[in-house]
Amino acid sequence: MSKLFIISNRLPITIEKKGDKLSYRQSSGGLVSAVSAYLDQEGQRTFTKKVWVGVSECSEQEWQTVSDTFTADYDFHPIFAAQKTYDQYYNGFANSVLWPLFHYFPSYADYQPQFFEAYKKINHNFADDLANQLNPEDTVWIHDYHLLPLAALLCKRNPKLTIGLFLHIPFPSYELFRAMPNDWQHEIIEGMLGADLVGFHTNDYRDHFLNCVSKITQAKVQDQIIHLNGRQIKTGAFPIGIDYDQFNSAYNNEGVVAKRNEHLHMKQDKKLIFSVDRLDYTKGVFSRLKGYREFLLQNPGYIGKVIFALVVIPSRDNISRYAERKKIIDEYVGNLNSRFGNIGWQPVVYQYGHLSFDELIALYTACDIALITPLRDGMNLVAKEFVASRKDKRGVLVLSEMAGAADELPEALIINPNDRKEIGDMIRRGLEMPRAEQEDRMAAMQARISSYNVVDWARDFFNRLKDAKAGQLQLREN
Ligand code: G6P
Repeated sequence: MSKLFIISNRLPITIEKKGDKLSYRQSSGGLVSAVSAYLDQEGQRTFTKKVWVGVSECSEQEWQTVSDTFTADYDFHPIFAAQKTYDQYYNGFANSVLWPLFHYFPSYADYQPQFFEAYKKINHNFADDLANQLNPEDTVWIHDYHLLPLAALLCKRNPKLTIGLFLHIPFPSYELFRAMPNDWQHEIIEGMLGADLVGFHTNDYRDHFLNCVSKITQAKVQDQIIHLNGRQIKTGAFPIGIDYDQFNSAYNNEGVVAKRNEHLHMKQDKKLIFSVDRLDYTKGVFSRLKGYREFLLQNPGYIGKVIFALVVIPSRDNISRYAERKKIIDEYVGNLNSRFGNIGWQPVVYQYGHLSFDELIALYTACDIALITPLRDGMNLVAKEFVASRKDKRGVLVLSEMAGAADELPEALIINPNDRKEIGDMIRRGLEMPRAEQEDRMAAMQARISSYNVVDWARDFFNRLKDAKAGQLQLREN
């Protein structure tokens, strides 16, 4: 039996400071719930010890104080980083180069050399820190774009390790990827190739990656396997799922019912459209507001009869592209409300802040339409959560074709997020969709996403990783 190391930028806990007192709470989010659910159900049998590695949000000294209070069935291993270096790695390279470029916003990318230096430094910190802890029989699962060079750094030190890498955001086409300076392209691709298995959400992302590998390295790519320097690296598409039962069974939770009733009371006979996203330019919040405006212009009969509940969750607000987005949305919502609203009715109800789980489910299950319009999104779990939450099989999903989730949810009303007329038309179609059609579409989507939930996703990845490593070892022996 071996140890499992889950490695991501963030640890699955949030440290809170109130005066001198430190406490912690478990974080929510797609990756945390996926990995925790898998470890709960199957990890015990496979691994002797589970360790989650990520950058600490507090100092080494503070960590000592708070770590005594941790209770989880895995250990946390913090990586400590100097503030400036972390800032250039996280706000800089990860979120001002890779994030915009990989989401097809090349003009937002800020190619500052010191960002790349900091990115490499933090990845080296992870590798150095783990060097003494990892044994050849251990398994490492690296997550996301913050840590793309890490697989090669670990493999170099310990070639027998089993290393999986999963990218949670899109992998762009070569034409986008090549916008980065050449040596960065090499280091990133070669870094990823230190893994035994590289996973993506969709076949398209995997194919873009394979194309970049062929263009940038000497590797031979055949049947989605990469052959390089006597090693073979497998690739695959693993569309991340959600904890389906948790969302589906929440429908009747006491707290959810109470909050849903409040919303139903508030909207009375009006229709309710709902959306929730992190504040991010990739999420298309502005496009959906324009689509909603178009809907109101084209369908004046709905004025006073529909409410759009728009929830935007604060995110990455140290980056100017994010802060400026907030201003644009605030202003647009204000204009829309003053243009169409009156004392008794506002077309948009807007919250900038977090929602509790019960509040989220109450809104998913009270609304008539979930309006999800990213300009580009690796997967989009909100779409899957909404579908899973609708135990009543009512409600309509309007979903952007640019979300990875659209591949698995073709029964949604699929829109192009840049086509405000189409968004407006689909809002109308969704609001007027007969009950039987809503139920048919919802049932088909529920069947599909419940058959590949978070645990299936993690199990599938681990099984493929085991095979990939076995193939690798065999190759070495021959
Ligand atoms: C995306 C990324 C995750 C990230 C999350 C929240 O889903 O794929 O790696 O954790 O956004 O972003 P943040 O910068 O707050 O971690």
